[in-house]
Amino acid sequence: MKVLEVEGNVPLLGSVEISGAKNSAVALIPTAILSDKKTTITNIPDITDIDVLCDILEFMHVKVTRASGSIVIDPSNMENLVIPDELTSKLRASYYFMSSLLAKYKHVCIHFPGGCKIGSRPIDQTLKVFRALGAEIKEDECFFTITAKELKGNEIHLDMPSVGATVNAIIVGSRAKGITTVTNAACEPEIVDLADMLNKMGAKVSGAGTPTVTIDGVEELDGCCHNVIPDRIEAGTYVILGALIGTYMSIENIIPEHINALLDKLREMGVDIQVNSDNVIVNATENIKAVNIETKGYPGFATDLQQPLVTLLTQAKGKSEVVETIYENRFMNTTYLNKMGANISVKDRCATILGPTKLHGATVEATDLRGAASLLLAALKASGKTTINNVEHLLRGYADIIEKLSNLGAKIELKEVDE
Ligand code: EPU
Repeated sequence: MKVLEVEGNVPLLGSVEISGAKNSAVALIPTAILSDKKTTITNIPDITDIDVLCDILEFMHVKVTRASGSIVIDPSNMENLVIPDELTSKLRASYYFMSSLLAKYKHVCIHFPGGCKIGSRPIDQTLKVFRALGAEIKEDECFFTITAKELKGNEIHLDMPSVGATVNAIIVGSRAKGITTVTNAACEPEIVDLADMLNKMGAKVSGAGTPTVTIDGVEELDGCCHNVIPDRIEAGTYVILGALIGTYMSIENIIPEHINALLDKLREMGVDIQVNSDNVIVNATENIKAVNIETKGYPGFATDLQQPLVTLLTQAKGKSEVVETIYENRFMNTTYLNKMGANISVKDRCATILGPTKLHGATVEATDLRGAASLLLAALKASGKTTINNVEHLLRGYADIIEKLSNLGAKIELKEVDE
């Protein structure tokens, strides 16, 4: 098991460069195989989710060349093989191969995807997309056999604006015959990034980033070069950290508009924050105010920033209420925040935080990616030493985090221990 040891209450100072977006990169990599030509993707974050996707590609005989921050994907010798469950179960994004293999070969056999255990996370909307485009699906426990004689464009209204279903609809629609229209689509910036890359490959995707996306299918796609957008969740996490314990912390290489909902809440809390064209400067502020938040799809307050923000809310004066509308099980971090001195009660999908409370070091368990970030932020603020177990979760999504935090002055050490 990987463990982080953190010496808390050390002010953090300096700048931190934000990496490419995990949730873009994990969609772009499975999409690259739609072409038989080479695709180069740059600004790829160095995280373990990317390692798993590369293992999946190599398993299917795709040539993968990785250099610092870039990846060249050459699918010219690719085979449509059944990806082992040990790989698909490691991340949610493995089901983007469900759509890219279906689009490329009209046939895919694949296991149910993995991902953080933050809710039930069904894939019914993606299956609905596949069926609407003409695919037949055989489901045997958690194994899917999906076949289409022909994929034909159609109109699909999603029951909820699911990111994954929107991504899968764009991938399959781009190689289907005719026009696919997705309404009630998710509007996340990562979907715009996917459409941008696909359009460079010769696809015809329009409306990405709005609730109606139209895909005019094409027979063939070319390779391309594409640079991943900055990770808005990593950016937001460091901005929250700056508000917690930063002294003139500059969060660089970001698109501030992508974290507008967070920046608005921080202003409401009274955090000292300066927003520039591609960076944000933030200082820890005395007497921050309690606020209420409700998570929403983009451009609303991101569920992925909810857990890190809860850590900051433990330092705000008064009562904050946080309503998690996307995932039913995204408050597992609060048990451990309470162990560190927070005063948080959870009822159904609402967490009530009473603050400010002093945080102190403890031994805590990371249970999911953003929950791990929430605990790390608390550990950096707390007095004394904190040990965070199971930080494999953290390394799935935060690139070079030990190095980035150490450069800001944090006293933090990653260890491998026997379970
Ligand atoms: N949903 C369904 N049926 C579906 C799909 C979704 O009921 O077929 C429900 C889910 O259960 C959930 C809600 O709809 O309650 C939203 O799910 P969505 O499909 O939008 O999420 P996702 O595609 O599984 C992506 C990110 C998540 C992020 C969410 C919401 C990736 C790989 N994952 O998940 O990222 O929280 O969108 O923005 O892009 C993370 O990075 O920590 C993370 C969990």
